[in-house]
Amino acid sequence: MTTDALFKHIELLQGARPWGRVLDAGTGSASLRWITGLNTMSWTAVTADPQRARKLRNEFSDSQRDSDRILAGNWSDPLLLGGETFDVVLADYLIGSMDRFSPYFQYRFLRRLRPHVATRLYLVGLEPYREAGDDAGGRLVLEIANLRDACILHAGHRCHREYPSDWVIGELESSGFSVEEEKRFPIIYGTKFINEQLDVCRRKLEFIENQELVGGLRSRIDKLREEALAFYDVHRGIRFGYYYVISARPV
Ligand SMILES: C[S@@+](CC[C@H](N)C(=O)[O-])C[C@H]1O[C@@H](n2cnc3c(N)ncnc32)[C@H](O)[C@@H]1O
Repeated sequence: MTTDALFKHIELLQGARPWGRVLDAGTGSASLRWITGLNTMSWTAVTADPQRARKLRNEFSDSQRDSDRILAGNWSDPLLLGGETFDVVLADYLIGSMDRFSPYFQYRFLRRLRPHVATRLYLVGLEPYREAGDDAGGRLVLEIANLRDACILHAGHRCHREYPSDWVIGELESSGFSVEEEKRFPIIYGTKFINEQLDVCRRKLEFIENQELVGGLRSRIDKLREEALAFYDVHRGIRFGYYYVISARPV
């Protein structure tokens, strides 16, 4: 299961309906690459991170038309995209990352987004992990995620906070949307996940002052990478958790 499978599913849900004006409400390379390949009238991509906006402008300079925009802005700003509506809106791993950029705004976000959605909202999220019990692969995934968050917190930065699909569905229903479909996609983690998450840990070490703590974290990162890659070699993937795609329309 890759991100591509989630986007393919959204294409299936959209069917023959035109994409029209599309809003990527929490943009990144993956979602924007997908959107630039669709038959849209125009697209607008929003990120709360000005550095990411600059990188994306460089990355997509060839595929960006005059009518397409990459904006650095925060949904907590009541003026962001004021008065504009979009035929299709994508919120791809957006709510899960909001704690970094607009803590506690998750609870008001869908109501804030509602006036911008003309026909469809597609929302992608990661279901918060359950306990792994005696599932050895699941325990490794949790250890990696916990170590990543520990390093982020010790660096003085903010972590992602994922929200369950049940919570999202409840919020959609009380924010002026009707939920059309929810589909779950079991995750099989590979070496990309292991290395990327542990690389985040590594990068955060430079922000931690206490060198005794840095030493301990560094050796745990290296050991866990070894353990997780060895597990991957035997099992060719670590099955744990799921992504969800929710399709909703405004009412
Ligand atoms: C995890 S990334 C999204 C992944 C992306 N769709 C991709 O293809 O990789 C989350 C995005 O949502 C944006 N975001 C998070 N909170 C936001 C907020 N309050 N306002 C605007 N953008 C926000 C982040 O800046 C980032 O661009």
